[in-house]
Amino acid sequence: MKKIVAVGLLSASLLVGAVAHEAEDIKKEVIEIGQETSKKLLKTLVPELKKAMKEGGPLKAVEVCSKKALKLTEKVAKEEGVEIKRTSFKYRNPKNAPDKYEKEALEYFEKELKEKGELPKYYVQKINENEYRYYMPLKIKGVCLTCHGDPNHMDKKLLAKIKELYPNDKATGYKLGDFRGVIRVTVTKEAIEKHEKHHKE
Ligand code: HEC
Repeated sequence: MKKIVAVGLLSASLLVGAVAHEAEDIKKEVIEIGQETSKKLLKTLVPELKKAMKEGGPLKAVEVCSKKALKLTEKVAKEEGVEIKRTSFKYRNPKNAPDKYEKEALEYFEKELKEKGELPKYYVQKINENEYRYYMPLKIKGVCLTCHGDPNHMDKKLLAKIKELYPNDKATGYKLGDFRGVIRVTVTKEAIEKHEKHHKE
């Protein structure tokens, strides 16, 4: 009798260990996939923005952004087998408004920045058994100020164009180094399995 209990306890603890181990592995995969995808998105969007700025100035670049940002985001998401969204408390396009999980992530970054003086590299959420989210924070750099800076210092024509395209724009008034928002990557169990397979091959 005693022996059976002992065996039972042993296998129970092995099981708990295995589950904990699996959770850690999943988190690691989510971070890897999230990072790869976010970097790929930035490598797609930033050069496109810079090219448009160089060729036609900020007025042209705003048009390019408004026409292409969502499409390019969609394209990278498809290639990587995930869902991607860019979101912020102060969004320009209402399609990028945060949901309740995204608000939680945005609050986390704001709080950490306030308390520790720097932004964490990422944040991971478990939505349910099949779905995780990875968040990468974005900071305001010099080039961003042209279209997200102090409206009093922005080009008047550019500001008018932004207002025309986005009547309820909230995304101005930022300073260099401010926390702008996040790239969110939704990673499913299926995407994780594909990623694992890909890496083992
Ligand atoms: C030429 C003007 C321009 C510049 C420069 C620019 N943006 Fe934007 N940004 C836009 C427009 C237009 C949108 C709305 C895009 C859309 O409709 O999806 C936008 C949207 C965003 C969003 C999505 C959330 C939202 O507000 O809708 C983020 C995040 C963002 N920009 C960050 C940045 C960062 C970081 C930089 C600097 C690296 C930057 N932007 C530079 C014009 C610009």
